[in-house]
Amino acid sequence: MKIEVLPSEPTAVEADLAVVGLYEDGTLPEAIKDLAGAGDAKGAFKKLMPLHADAGARVLVAGLGKREEVSPERLRVAAALAAKEASRLEVSSLAWALPETGEDDAAAEALVTGTVLGSYRFDRFKGKGTGSEDSPAPGVESLTLLAPAGTAAAAETARVYAEAQNRARDLQTTPANVATPSYLAARAEAIAADHDAVTVEVLGPEQIAAKGMGGLVAVNRGGGEPSRLIVLRYAGDGSGPTLGLVGKGVTFDTGGISLKPGAGMQEMKYDMSGAAAVLESVAAIAELGLAVDLVAVVPSTENMPSGSAIKPGDVITQYNGVTVEVNNTDAEGRLILADALAYAVELGAERLVDLATLTGAVTIALGSTYAAVIANDDELAAAVAQAGEVSGELTWRLPLHPEFKALMKGKVADLSNLASKRKAGTITAASFLEEFVGETPWAHIDIAGTAWEVGREYTGNEASGFGVRLLVELARHQAS
Ligand code: BES
Ligand code: ZN
Ligand code: ZN
Repeated sequence: MKIEVLPSEPTAVEADLAVVGLYEDGTLPEAIKDLAGAGDAKGAFKKLMPLHADAGARVLVAGLGKREEVSPERLRVAAALAAKEASRLEVSSLAWALPETGEDDAAAEALVTGTVLGSYRFDRFKGKGTGSEDSPAPGVESLTLLAPAGTAAAAETARVYAEAQNRARDLQTTPANVATPSYLAARAEAIAADHDAVTVEVLGPEQIAAKGMGGLVAVNRGGGEPSRLIVLRYAGDGSGPTLGLVGKGVTFDTGGISLKPGAGMQEMKYDMSGAAAVLESVAAIAELGLAVDLVAVVPSTENMPSGSAIKPGDVITQYNGVTVEVNNTDAEGRLILADALAYAVELGAERLVDLATLTGAVTIALGSTYAAVIANDDELAAAVAQAGEVSGELTWRLPLHPEFKALMKGKVADLSNLASKRKAGTITAASFLEEFVGETPWAHIDIAGTAWEVGREYTGNEASGFGVRLLVELARHQAS
């Protein structure tokens, strides 16, 4: 989307639709207060009210609610609603008058984010070969912020990360017969080709086996698509610790021999949402040129059942030599993340954050409102929580405890991938992962509840791209 910042009046700008925010106790600007309908405009949050300007340009009043309750989140929501209204009206250029909030940069970021995310569509597979002439309207293509020139940098930053989040949504939504492990690897290669400071290395099944990554080998044994281990590095000349990012890249999770029920299984194409967020946040961080150093590791495979698949009870050896009894082949995410976390530490990660659609239990605990964070380090946990608050991608910390770890002991191997009791599923999964990070500060983010079907105005009910804004904010904070 083309984003521009102009210090001008809503009626003076050449956009198809000009949006003006209104607080409940507010009044409309002079320039539009005489337009038809202006007298009835109310400022209730989420309420939209179109006004008709004589000259043909349309004006939309967007309710912002109580002035004292305004927040970046409310502005993201209002902007997404306005963008959807613009699509409905089939206008392609939009202008937003920056509302008075006391924090112009944050408001500009929020309006750009809400507009870019709220305009998201995925029509790659629609209308092909049907001969139909009604191709979809172009949607919102440009946004002009009527705001002080000083907010231009904030607006541009938001454009970069929100577009990255939309690309993560594309990767999530692309079906598993297209978005395979090699497709994710090709995307990583394209990111490296686009940015001088990014390098990529991709390992295939033989190299993965030769390195002794027994978890990734085991999950891939069911067949289907060949696995990939993707490493992206970004050298941003940072002065802080190298940030390791790990993303679960299961491009389809059938459960394997511990087969999932059929109903809803199509959603398991989203089991690579962590990988999508990691890849596209690296792209955004590189595009923004943030002063941090990154090493991102994405283990990617399908989880399929077959005669060669791993079976419940099989014992495997992970990259760091720890042995694991695979008591449920549907708990595959932790097996591939275990190798990837240990590998990221070896590659120089000094602070680790992993994103994974790891457990159904996290949705029971926190719904789609918060992602769970489990960390072995208070400072990193606090940094993640703070990045969540700033970005609006909220997280909530759950505890570690030796009693949870005890549930993950194996009978014939060091560990079991399935807790011995059906308790605290999100935490026991994290306790398993903790065995593979050594002393490195690490935060695990379980995004199974937040990666899709979130239901917020700007993310909708399909893929959300959760994690891109959070990781970019974490990197921005570290770089500042
Ligand atoms: N990918 C799933 C987790 C998941 C489930 C994500 C539903 C989103 C929606 C993961 O691989 C899995 O199957 N986890 C099991 C673990 C269990 C067998 C210990 C789960 O959560 O049921
Ligand atoms: Zn699974
Ligand atoms: Zn899974």
